[in-house]
Order: sequence, then structure tokens, then C-alpha cells
Amino acid sequence: MAILEILQYPNPILKKKTQPIERIDQTIRELAQDMAETMYAVPGVGLAAPQVGRPIRLAVLDVTPADQPKNLVVLVNPVVVETEGECSWEEGCLSVPEYAEEVKRKKRVIVRCQNLAGENVEIVGEELLSIVLQHEIDHLDGILFLDRLSKLKRDLFKKRLQKEKKEGMKL
Ligand code: NI
Repeated sequence: MAILEILQYPNPILKKKTQPIERIDQTIRELAQDMAETMYAVPGVGLAAPQVGRPIRLAVLDVTPADQPKNLVVLVNPVVVETEGECSWEEGCLSVPEYAEEVKRKKRVIVRCQNLAGENVEIVGEELLSIVLQHEIDHLDGILFLDRLSKLKRDLFKKRLQKEKKEGMKL
């Protein structure tokens, strides 16, 4: 097990579309474990493979409250097959530190994927689970929650980032 480095925006790897996983071998299982360990260490509720520099369709998540036993979900090749309703949720991202903003998402999603045993599973996500599923699957398509903000909010964020960079250089 190992803690992996989480790539930060605007690293170009985060914008790349990822490749499907054809064989769930030991390398994939170990990567999923390391990603889970990395996610729990931050702590975060979800982490997608591109965020640790692997452009493949793999993500981990756990939306269980901290005072309850862990319930790790590993998504291999996840696809959203059904959506329902709309909602808005304040999101952050491990690749976009110290920033959170309201994002419009589907209220309920059904996701089909494989687990690490290679079995086909269907996950029904509501509330936070729905949001995290959509957020992580977006990562696999090279989409960050920033891309789902209004242009105005996105521009404000970029300006702030530029300002921080300039301030950083004075040190
Ligand atoms: Ni994220």
C-alpha cells in the first residue's frame, strides 16, 4: 500500500479522456487499494485514477460518515445509464484545493460498472452518492467541477489562482 501524489489543476493529465480497463489484474487491484488509502488519508470521499496520473477508467469512493465503518466502492469502467431530477451541491475536489462551489447535478443516477472481482454491478446513487458518482465519472472524461460552473465563476476562480501565483512568487 502506498500514498499516491494527487495531481493539481491545471495539470494537463486531468483534462485527458481515459482508457477502459480490459483486464482487472493485480496492478489494477493494487492501484485501487493505493487510491483508497490516498483518499482516506486526505481525507476525501472520492478519487479518480487520472488524479494520480493514471489515464484509465477507475475510481474509488466512500460516502460513509466518518463515525461509521468504512464502505469502499471501487468503480471499474463506470457508465451512467439513468438519471433523474436535478439538484445543486457545494463541491470541492482533491485536485482543486481550497475551493468549493455550487454545482448543478442530477439528483439520482444509476451507474453500471465492474467491481474488482470483475462482476457487473449496478449502483443507485441518491444525494451525496449521486453527486460523487457524477463527479468521479466526470474525472474519467477529463471534466473537472470547474468546467461545470458558469463562465463568470470560472473566470473568478482563474483570476484568484493567478493572483495567488503572483503572490507566491514574491516570497
Ligand atoms: Ni475531484
